[in-house]
Amino acid sequence: MKGLKINGGNKLFGSVRVTGAKNSVLPILAAAVLNSDNSIIYDCPHLSDVENAVQILEHLGLTAFWNDDMIYVNSKNISSNTIPDCLMRKMRSSVIFLGSLLSRTGSAVIGMPGGCEIGSRPIDLHIKAFKDLGVKFSENGNHLFCTLDKLKSSVINLEFASVGATENIMLLSAKSDAEVVILNAAREPEIIDLQNFLNGMGANISGAGTAIIKIHGVNTLSSTVHTLIPDRITAVTYACAAAACGGDISIENTKYNHISAVMDELMKLGAEVREFKNSIRVKSSERLSGSCVIQTAPYPDFPTDAQPIICSVLCTAEGRFCLIENVFENRFKYIDELVKMGADITYSGKTAIINGASKLCGNEVTAKDLRGGAALVIAGLSAEGETRISGYEYILRGYENLAGTLSQLGAEVEEIGIDA
Ligand code: EPZ
Repeated sequence: MKGLKINGGNKLFGSVRVTGAKNSVLPILAAAVLNSDNSIIYDCPHLSDVENAVQILEHLGLTAFWNDDMIYVNSKNISSNTIPDCLMRKMRSSVIFLGSLLSRTGSAVIGMPGGCEIGSRPIDLHIKAFKDLGVKFSENGNHLFCTLDKLKSSVINLEFASVGATENIMLLSAKSDAEVVILNAAREPEIIDLQNFLNGMGANISGAGTAIIKIHGVNTLSSTVHTLIPDRITAVTYACAAAACGGDISIENTKYNHISAVMDELMKLGAEVREFKNSIRVKSSERLSGSCVIQTAPYPDFPTDAQPIICSVLCTAEGRFCLIENVFENRFKYIDELVKMGADITYSGKTAIINGASKLCGNEVTAKDLRGGAALVIAGLSAEGETRISGYEYILRGYENLAGTLSQLGAEVEEIGIDA
């Protein structure tokens, strides 16, 4: 098993570039099923989740391959309507292929996506919306069989602004004879990126980035070329690392408006964040200090994915802090590992209380999910002594070459083998 070894205490200096967004490329690869033609997607991050998505396309009979940071897909030939269990289990967000598969073939078979480390992550909102749109479901053991004759024009009012459900409805409706409106749609930048990709194929979708998305189905979608938006959570991760360790870094290929809710909190703590056209600069010299309550919520509010990441910054800042996790029901598991490093945090239900100014000490800790793993990396960077992180495979799902990038900034980080 691979792990990370970190010798903490170094300040971070220099410049890093953020790749295209993991949470954009996954739905966009699903969208590439729709046009029976070529799709060329640039700035794709080399991550295990993206490899899984490419494997799903190949399993469906499509042509899909990498060329440096570009992924080429030709979806002319499709020979399956089934998402293999092994890939459903590896990547919960494989459910995002359901909409495009149904649209393309009229039927789909998926294994029920298991919950994961951060919560049960049901797909009831996807299923309810799809039923309203005319999809028929039947269950057999641990598989969901779906069929679609003709999409029904509908207004779908989402109970929760679910990112995945919003994307799946867009993918199911883009190529159809129906008019579909999504109310309480997710507003994340990745939704806008998906709309732009689909419209680049010839779809007629508007409103992404707002709570109301209108999809005027079209009969034909054609080839397209697209460059992904930057990965905003990767940018947040590097910004929080600099804030926690001290130093002065520039983060290239970053849109400040995508991460302003998190940058606002870092500036309240005393970090200096400057916005440039396609980058930000984060400086932190003195010990951070303050007190705040941070509540996670759908975009544009504070992102749930940044909750574990900023927690590692709060551990070493002067003051008392409260984190309230409103999106996922089990997203504090990383805290037990931070406590092993000397953090003073208690949590119950949706709320975590952090008594800052802890001097973190290196320890052997385990990542249990992607962003919780990122939190442990940041804690290790600012801790005294050596930290060894197992469960590195979780971190590889969302960060390309994290050890190399942090080393470029002056951190002492290396990938190691860890006994299973
Ligand atoms: C996307 O997950 C992201 N993943 C997540 O990022 C992100 O944390 C999340 O959106 C929220 O921003 C990808 O885009 C691949 P949701 P998704 O549907 O679509 C509940 C990362 O670290 N819900 O908005 O699964 C759900 O259980 C990952 O990169 C239902 O109850 O998120 C959760 O509590 C982690 N029923 C809440 O809604 C449903 O049918 C938000 O889920 C669907 C969701």
